[in-house]
Order: sequence, then structure tokens, then C-alpha cells
Amino acid sequence: MTKKILILPGDGIGQEIVAEAVKVLDCLQKDFGLKVELEEALVGGTAYDDSGSPLPESTLTLAKEADSLLLGAVGGYKWESLDIAVRPEKGLLGLRAELELFANLRPAILYPQLADASTLKPEVVSGLDIMIVRELTGGIYFGQPRGVRTLDNGEKEGYNTLVYRESEIERIAKVAFDIAGKRDSRVCSVDKANVLECTELWREVVNRVGEDHKEIELSHMYVDNAAMQLVRAPKQFDVMVTTNMFGDILSDCAAMLTGSIGMLPSASLDINSKGMYEPIHGSAPDIAGQGVANPLATILSVAMMLRYSLDEAALAERIEQAVNSVLDQGLRTQDIFSEGMKQVGTAEMGDAVVAAMR
Ligand code: IPM
Ligand code: MG
Repeated sequence: MTKKILILPGDGIGQEIVAEAVKVLDCLQKDFGLKVELEEALVGGTAYDDSGSPLPESTLTLAKEADSLLLGAVGGYKWESLDIAVRPEKGLLGLRAELELFANLRPAILYPQLADASTLKPEVVSGLDIMIVRELTGGIYFGQPRGVRTLDNGEKEGYNTLVYRESEIERIAKVAFDIAGKRDSRVCSVDKANVLECTELWREVVNRVGEDHKEIELSHMYVDNAAMQLVRAPKQFDVMVTTNMFGDILSDCAAMLTGSIGMLPSASLDINSKGMYEPIHGSAPDIAGQGVANPLATILSVAMMLRYSLDEAALAERIEQAVNSVLDQGLRTQDIFSEGMKQVGTAEMGDAVVAAMR
């Protein structure tokens, strides 16, 4: 059956990198029999400019109809002064919430070819393979009440609410245990249970879910220590599971261990494994439009889509091998460039991946 994929380039470099991922999808359709139908829609700042909303109704309708979504990135200087309710980021958060994409998988894998690109010593990061499982539709990102109020003395006060229900913790913990079962069978749950009641409950519920997964080794870590351990000895981790905000922070940190945030894909899944796939980096307005952005994270996001939503693991592997092969050939965008390699632009990199796939 033909699957529907909604393409959401978004803002900034999103446009350029998604175009390369679409080349990969075209190649899979033409040469490898993948049956998909692509549609494109606006989200983020470009959608706001077009219609006044970062997540127009028409985009949301297409998103709900699609089997999976490929997103570039949202945001940019141009929209930073807008009211928070219509900022580009709301487009992304709205999609996550409306589609109930509660499970965000962020793998941090070091490609051996890029060991020198990491700011950490090669021996600290070589062989690195961590999966961060971030809760994506709850926590302080969505908790009510939220806002800025004026106190009796005229002073303003900003406030947000960190809130998790047992069922929300349970379902993300299950995802983490399931994934660990297909990897090295270790889960480290990250919280701040020494200070925040909400994450004390988090720990309790993760322990409870752990009772049903005796084959998985479960540990707990406070988030401050986890941040430290990620840069001190990152290879101690297999799967990390954590709240929305802690996951946001720790996944950027983990990404840099691999040399460039431009390499890392992500999947955001609902309970039925419908997913939105996106690079974990942002819209990089500073380099947008120059044709120098690294498209590999987005291309690898297509591989994740094939694996997690479209049941096409062999095609996913083909993409991953092609990425390996272009790195072996010494091709590098500027973010991963090092002495002796060949620097290429966004489109050249995409073309090289497609050539390697064939
Ligand atoms: C991410 C991003 C988003 C987040 C922003 C763009 C809203 O940083 O996907 O990690 O905070 O979740
Ligand atoms: Mg982030």
C-alpha cells in the first residue's frame, strides 16, 4: 500500500537540507520500489508569514492524514520578537502535541570517520552509541498554568509548571525498556528526584515498569550528574530516558560528542509508531541560504522513518551505508571538515549519498 509522507521543510536551512532528503526518497521510489506519495506543507516562520499561524489548519489536516512526516527545522531571527503564541517553535510543539508524538528517540552515534571532529578525546568517544529517549508531549513544556503575571507590588513574575501523570511516565518508560531490549539491555533514567516531587514520581513509576523488564538493567541518575557523565565518560550509557526539558538539554550535549549536531537524526513517535522525523539541529539562520548546511542528519532521519514507521529496514540500512560510504570517500560539509578531507556543499553531499545508494 502506498504510504503518505508529509514534507515540512520549515525555516532557514530546513529548506535546503530537506531538498536533499527528498532526493533520497525519490531515488528509493525510482530504483528500489518504495511506494510513497509525498506532499509538502508550510510550518514555522514561513507558515506564519504566509497565513499568520505557525501551524495552519491545512498543515495540521495533512499531518493527521499522513503516515509519517519529515521536518527540516523551524525558527529564525526574523520571528524572535513575535508573541510566543505564534512563534515558529509553536508550529513544532503543536505538531508534537496534536499528533501525540510522545516518544522522541535521539540516537547519538559516533561515526568512526569523524572521531577527530569531536571536541572530546577520540578514546572517550570512539564507539559511542547512545539512545536518548525523551518524553515529548508533557512536562514543563506543556504544563498549566503558565505565563507571566503582575504581582500586587507591580513586579512581574514568570511561571511554568512541571507536571507528569503516571500514565505518561509509564508509556515513555516502556518505550525505553523495549528499545534497550534490542540494544545493550541497559536503561538509565534521568531525573531530579532529590528536589522535584514530579520527578520523584517519575523515578517511582520507572521502577515499577522496570519490574516487568527484569532482563533490563535499570539505573537512575540526577540530571546534573548525567550532564557531567555525558562529557566525562559517555560510553557508560546505552539508553537514557528522561523528561521533556532534561531530554532537550542532554540530547544537544550528547550530539556534540559525535562531532557535529549536523549528523544526528531523530524520531518522534505516537503509540502506533506513526512518526515525525527530523534532524535534531535547528534552522541555523546564520548559514541559511548559503548551500553549506550538512544534510546528513535529515537524510538519516529518512532512514529512521523507514525503520520505525514504514517497516523498510533494508532500505534504511542502504541509506546508512551510503552515508558511511560518502564519509569514507572523505566528503565533508564545513561543520565536519578536517584537514585532508574534501569540503562539499549541501547539494553535493546529497547527490553523493544518492550516488552511493545506487
Ligand atoms: C528540539 C528543539 C525544540 C525543543 C525547539 C525548537 C522548540 O530544541 O527539538 O530539541 O525545545 O524541543
Ligand atoms: Mg533542543
